[in-house]
Amino acid sequence: MLTRSRPSWYLPESAATPEHVFHQRRSLLKGMAGGLIAGGLPLGVTGLAAGTAFASEDPSAHLYPVAQNKKYTLDRPLTDEHIAAKYNNFYEFGSHKTISKAAQALKIRPWTIEIKGLVEKPFTIGIDDLLKRMPLEERLYRFRCVEAWSMAVPWSGFPMKALVDLAKPLGSAKFVAMRTFLDKDMAPGQKQFWYPWPYTEGLTIAEATNEMAFMVTGIYGHTLPKQHGAPLRLAVPWKYGFKSVKSVVEFEFVEEAPETFWWKLQSSEYGFWANVNPEVAHPRWSQATERVLGTGERVPTLKWNGYGEQVAHLYDGMRGVQLFR
Ligand code: MTE
Repeated sequence: MLTRSRPSWYLPESAATPEHVFHQRRSLLKGMAGGLIAGGLPLGVTGLAAGTAFASEDPSAHLYPVAQNKKYTLDRPLTDEHIAAKYNNFYEFGSHKTISKAAQALKIRPWTIEIKGLVEKPFTIGIDDLLKRMPLEERLYRFRCVEAWSMAVPWSGFPMKALVDLAKPLGSAKFVAMRTFLDKDMAPGQKQFWYPWPYTEGLTIAEATNEMAFMVTGIYGHTLPKQHGAPLRLAVPWKYGFKSVKSVVEFEFVEEAPETFWWKLQSSEYGFWANVNPEVAHPRWSQATERVLGTGERVPTLKWNGYGEQVAHLYDGMRGVQLFR
């Protein structure tokens, strides 16, 4: 979010991964995994995706890859996995893009998620218990950051609606607030007192139960690397990337829109709704086009990031509301 004089995309980046190459690699991974199981090696300590630092202590590694939901495919090649894994925003570990190494300090087990607020009965659940209860699938989604870069990635996870159904919100709940962990010793970025920690995001219940809202637990056919927000993050692809909160520990069902992290810092630039729209510029830059990670190509940005058919109706009757910032 902070402007940099020499953005890291000036570094050479190899081309994006066409979908068929990804799938070839995926079946290879599956084969390797099978071989390892047969050989008696515990999965989760193997680092299957060479070069990608993903959670070696993750006991959910055996769940991946999961079956792809063919409804959610792409109009563009997938971003190369190594590029997506090395160009991140995770302010808890630093306010720059190269936090993948620092993010390895994130401890992802034990990991407990609290469901609270306006629900039938508040409860906590461990991530591995949650994973057992959720219908895992893979979806290929576009991702558009407010900073005007974009990627296209295969997320694994489950529809957020399944989590909302498990939470059983009361009729009075209108929004769900989501919060990241708070631990200054583990995440030194949280020592920067001028940020309103913990990172908080929110959706309306209608948004959270829309088919596109997806809780992410894996990527590229394996568990989620820490820098992408392991073990549980959001993907709401019709909104700018900052809405997709990482490493969530709390879902609170509430009546009023929660005060979100970037909104608290700069409400004129980062609103609650933050729906992608090329016609509404950020106060400091145009949103008309986006730079594709990996190729550096500039392509036109699509309204709702191309997901208007699925989500535009959510905003019917909301004239006068700044939906696109
Ligand atoms: N979640 C937390 N907890 N902390 C963050 O700094 N950054 C957001 C979002 N979720 C952020 C976060 C922003 S600005 C973006 S663009 C995406 O994460 C980046 O996701 P990625 O690194 O997996 O590409």
